[in-house]
Amino acid sequence: MRLIIYTGKGGVGKTSTSAATAYRLSELGYRTILMSTDSAHSVGDSLDIEIGKDVMTVKENLDVLEVDVIHEMKNNWTEVQEYISALMLSQGMGEISADEMAIFPGMEMIAALFYVNKFEKEGRYDVIVMDTAPTGETLRLLSFPDITNWYIDRVFGVVKRFIGLARATVGKMMDVPLPSKEVLDSLEILKDNMEEVRELMEDPKRTTVRLVLNPERMVIKETMRAYTYLSLFNKNVEALIVNRVLPEEAGEGSYFKDKLEEQGRYMQMIHEAFDPMEIKTCTYMPTEMRGIDMLKDMAREIYGDEDPCTVYADESPMSMFTENGEDQIRLRMPFVDGSKVDLFRLDANSIMVQTGSQRRTIHLPDSLVDSEIIGAGFKDDKLIIRFKRE
Ligand SMILES: Nc1ncnc2c1ncn2[C@@H]1O[C@H](COP(=O)(O)OP(=O)(O)OP(=O)(O)O)[C@@H](O)[C@H]1O
Ligand SMILES: [Mg+2]
Repeated sequence: MRLIIYTGKGGVGKTSTSAATAYRLSELGYRTILMSTDSAHSVGDSLDIEIGKDVMTVKENLDVLEVDVIHEMKNNWTEVQEYISALMLSQGMGEISADEMAIFPGMEMIAALFYVNKFEKEGRYDVIVMDTAPTGETLRLLSFPDITNWYIDRVFGVVKRFIGLARATVGKMMDVPLPSKEVLDSLEILKDNMEEVRELMEDPKRTTVRLVLNPERMVIKETMRAYTYLSLFNKNVEALIVNRVLPEEAGEGSYFKDKLEEQGRYMQMIHEAFDPMEIKTCTYMPTEMRGIDMLKDMAREIYGDEDPCTVYADESPMSMFTENGEDQIRLRMPFVDGSKVDLFRLDANSIMVQTGSQRRTIHLPDSLVDSEIIGAGFKDDKLIIRFKRE
């Protein structure tokens, strides 16, 4: 089973791109499910249909699922939810309802990964197209590395804070109920599921991330950050979708001329940050992006006759390693003369690499911001930048 995950900053076109891709895949004969992990669901709007809380068939080869945490809590995670409720009650707090549990950030993503694992086991689909929420939690969850601990810390961290509050208001700590066997079993099942889905998520030939962005400065910066973060956790980011590109014939007059020139500069900035990644574009469409016809047009613009299931590269152009006590960033830079490499620090967070006629800007992960660069050089078609471990 193939998993294509679209992510990116708010409002760039993730949902439209996801829906367009899923629709196209279903027409190519793939058994496809379009899954949304964004609690502000808009897949229904995009496809222009009503969507329920369970898997729904839209047409031949196309199902959709908008993951709803409240629904999942009530139906599939009852034990855990009941335990947390009991815990709250024992502390003199009101019962916590499924609705309140749903406020924990990132829960949609956890629930979605459950489904991914289920679908993988059932062999029901050839491909899952996942539309995500524009949050840091999405990135964290996509990157793992240890999703279950994250989840447990998060949920129980919130519970602990409630207990702290109870202590302050009620005055004394009451007996804390121990989690029942069922609760522990549920958590065990959760762990096992996450362990299983990890194999698929970390297989660069099956799971790939595609970043959606617009040709705008802040969006590009944010996309670079996401790219670095995902690369840090070995996700295969193999394609970029630049959406809302003004067509060359955008219009007459100096306003459009300036806009096009500006866009040209941003496209260059995109290349400097992401080459040799596959870059797809979609033009700015003057009409509302809604309904099947628009989505078909969008898919055609982005993928043409290509099969969107294609894995454009089986390794992300950027990867990070720790070797011999030093941190390394490895960048795939084919077709360059690597005999001379110049590195410049642009600001605390970013560096620029110049080699031959090519330039790359790299957003450094937080862990490397203060590290000293101790060398850079080529090995095969990869530029390796070495950092001193703190
Ligand atoms: N190429 C385009 N041309 C014109 N409008 C577009 C284009 N792509 C998307 N839109 C419109 O922009 C809006 C945001 O698109 P979409 O919902 O796909 O973005 P998103 O990244 O999923 O947003 P969010 O972060 O809020 O989930 C929608 O109204 C959509 O119709
Ligand atoms: Mg969206």
